[in-house]
Amino acid sequence: MEFRHAPVMPEEALHFLNPRSGGAYVDGTLGGGGHSRLILEASSPDGILYAFDRDQDALTAAGERLAEFGDRFRPIHGNFAAMADCLLAAGVTGIDGFLLDLGVSSHQLDTADRGFSFQTDAPLDMRMDTGSGPTAADLVNELPEAELVRIIREYGEERWAQRVARFIVLARTETPVMTTGRLVDIIKGAIPRGAWEERLHPATRTFQGLRIAVNDELGSLERGLAAGIGLLHPGGRGVVISFHSLEDRIVKLSFREQARGCICPRELPLCGCGHVPEVTILTRRAARPGEAETATNPRARSARLRAVEKR
Ligand SMILES: C[S@@+](CC[C@H](N)C(=O)[O-])C[C@H]1O[C@@H](n2cnc3c(N)ncnc32)[C@H](O)[C@@H]1O
Repeated sequence: MEFRHAPVMPEEALHFLNPRSGGAYVDGTLGGGGHSRLILEASSPDGILYAFDRDQDALTAAGERLAEFGDRFRPIHGNFAAMADCLLAAGVTGIDGFLLDLGVSSHQLDTADRGFSFQTDAPLDMRMDTGSGPTAADLVNELPEAELVRIIREYGEERWAQRVARFIVLARTETPVMTTGRLVDIIKGAIPRGAWEERLHPATRTFQGLRIAVNDELGSLERGLAAGIGLLHPGGRGVVISFHSLEDRIVKLSFREQARGCICPRELPLCGCGHVPEVTILTRRAARPGEAETATNPRARSARLRAVEKR
């Protein structure tokens, strides 16, 4: 299958990342290589790009598509949360910018046997890195009901979480839930028909919650942001594109925390912490895609971009 991904908010991402020749950059989410190509072009003739993905298929496909950039493109199989250690292993201790374009790629959603989609029946997997960690089937069949409720409510923002978890637990006592199709049927049975939203498949939220849990997406994001900011040279930029409120909140709070000076309790008359801001926030409000982009790329509709510059 062809591996394509129209990069989301391409102009804004380049504007804030500001790649230059001679710089070293990280694309933490290589995917189809759309943003990576833009960064490599903008940093020609000698900028270096370290591109991470947890998905070996993405690395293989993007490696072929970006072969023309030769040694300037350096793919790394791994979680961007571990970028500091991975780069150190390659002798790199500082970078001029990083980009994270969160979530799953169109390719992952469109490849039925990865189990990300509720549109086709497939094994219930949902791992970005198919070589490690528990699958969605493992979680659905093994977690206590209360933990399933938490995942579906907190990460999926599903108000019917309790009923969905209850129905899953009832179903798995008969036979383990091993496929996306069976899970979709269970969810449809759990959410009363009258409560189905007009333009949202009833399984959307539960699938999102499970995917986030399977891949520890929020934990990876927190660690990745800290690692990326720690690696930036002064003047280097960090850019993050997120697609739902949970991610965006983590990005906003993390950037705000790193931009703060004194962190002493308010009632202290004098600063005793000596804490200095690490970054300047470049996007007081998250940037949003323009109408032309959302009209042609539905995935862009919920995108929010935030950026910082290292001080
Ligand atoms: C939305 S796609 C990126 C698309 C890419 N920007 C492009 O223009 O083609 C996200 C990709 O990042 C990968 N990914 C998500 N979280 C990751 C993480 N914590 N570490 C490494 N890769 C991750 C996914 O496997 C997926 O291939």
